[in-house]
Amino acid sequence: MVFSPAHLQIKDEDDGYNKNLFCVPKHYEDDLERVFIPHGLILDRTERLARDIMKDMGSHHIFALCVLKGGYKFFADLMDHIKALNRNTDQSVPITVDFVRLKSYSNDSSMGTVSIIGEELTAFKGKNVLVVEDIIETGQTIQTLLSRIKEHEPQMVKVVSLLIKRTIRSSGYRPDYIGFEIPDKFVVGYALDYNEYFRDLNHICILNEKAKEKYKV
Ligand code: IMP
Repeated sequence: MVFSPAHLQIKDEDDGYNKNLFCVPKHYEDDLERVFIPHGLILDRTERLARDIMKDMGSHHIFALCVLKGGYKFFADLMDHIKALNRNTDQSVPITVDFVRLKSYSNDSSMGTVSIIGEELTAFKGKNVLVVEDIIETGQTIQTLLSRIKEHEPQMVKVVSLLIKRTIRSSGYRPDYIGFEIPDKFVVGYALDYNEYFRDLNHICILNEKAKEKYKV
């Protein structure tokens, strides 16, 4: 599969960093295999995504839609960078925010169905919508959400995902903006979870097999 060059590609053989070179919470120390994407790098890449998004969408009011729960850290940091651009350039636009909660995962594999929890999607008619996702694997979650949003006849919908997985399970869907393209590994941290654990970890990390058993439901 060939992706556009406008993202940072992490190769299959790149397995990140020794966790002992970084600060991780004591309660997760034994669960982590490697630090995969350090927090600082996530923030630096997010700053540039904010600039790219504002270049394309920065002339109209933006309706930013956060996909919960995994997207909340990326969403907050992306909004901070967009707000900084709004403060420091001659042209600025209002940003309004909304949240939608989706569930498609149990343990480390997709359940094959996507449930939209909360249902109440804002009326997007005529609006410029920016959907903010944490990670795209098969593409099923985001495609389900997009079809629901499009029922509300927005003027424009753009999708930004912090991560996209290089996997044969992909439907081929590609978002408009991508932070990092990663190998086919299960990752946690920076709000991405394994059965609700590891959202409280700053870095994006790889779990060890023992942890997958320990936190299995
Ligand atoms: P998709 O529908 O297969 O694209 O899966 C996307 C959703 O699955 C994301 O929004 C996450 O909630 C979850 N997901 C996929 N891969 C991972 C992972 O490596 N770690 C944590 N959650 C993941």
